Amino acid sequence: MKFFADTAEIAEIRELAETGLLDGVTTNPSLVHKSGRDFLEVVREIAGVVKGPVSAEVVALDYEGMIREAEVLRKIADNIAIKVPLTPAGLHACKALSSEGTMVNVTLCFSAAQALLAAKAGATFVSPFVGRHDDVGFDGMSLIADIRLIYDNYDFGTEILVASVRHPVHVVEAAKIGADVMTAPPKIIWQLFKHPLTDAGIASFLKDYRCCCHWRDAGHRQQAEYDLQQRVESPELRRTRVLHGKAAVPTRRRRFVLSAGQLGVVSRQAPKAHS
Ligand code: E4P
Repeated sequence: MKFFADTAEIAEIRELAETGLLDGVTTNPSLVHKSGRDFLEVVREIAGVVKGPVSAEVVALDYEGMIREAEVLRKIADNIAIKVPLTPAGLHACKALSSEGTMVNVTLCFSAAQALLAAKAGATFVSPFVGRHDDVGFDGMSLIADIRLIYDNYDFGTEILVASVRHPVHVVEAAKIGADVMTAPPKIIWQLFKHPLTDAGIASFLKDYRCCCHWRDAGHRQQAEYDLQQRVESPELRRTRVLHGKAAVPTRRRRFVLSAGQLGVVSRQAPKAHS
């Protein structure tokens, strides 16, 4: 399953790209507005950070207007996917653009019938909005299952891009159904990493490691703690620590403030100097 970030915030995109797990980005006019930046400028910058598809939406409602906007957008970079709404004009534009080899993301899909039309129009991606679907009392995930079934029946190449994702369960359910892509706000992608038992396991391994590991001197010990912390801490903790400037800080009582309130006590004798 491909992971796209649903945002126009460049810092958040860079941070996610560093994980090596980010496959693309989706934007929409509201997300760009929220970023407070110029539309073309922000799309250009995102397309430079991420190698995969970056969806940029047209706002014209008529076919000619959509094609005019698409001409400008697709010149920005080769990885731009033109986002068109699921309307007759949008699908007309989709057909024209996709037959010229331009990636097209058909957005605002709320029914299996609409998804069928998008596939027939040659869309690269169709974006069913599961969260907004749930909001009005429908089951967003059953829409994804219906689209998967229909696309498999006819071997359509259009990728199902699950959009309007509101929580990690949406991601897992979409993956179980076999959706090709999901796009979610960065906060939700970071939540996917988290499990309380992972954090508890790390804390207990760290505590035991401190009791069985000898270091040559305090400098070594501090560095080892710091290195370990870099390896095991979650991205969220790392961000907190970087923001608050906290590193492994030894105190006179041989306590080590590791990060964000984590406190470790070293119970062993002072380490012996090894020759
Ligand atoms: C997808 O491309 C849309 O930008 C997005 O997923 C909409 O999500 P929302 O319903 O949270 O606004």
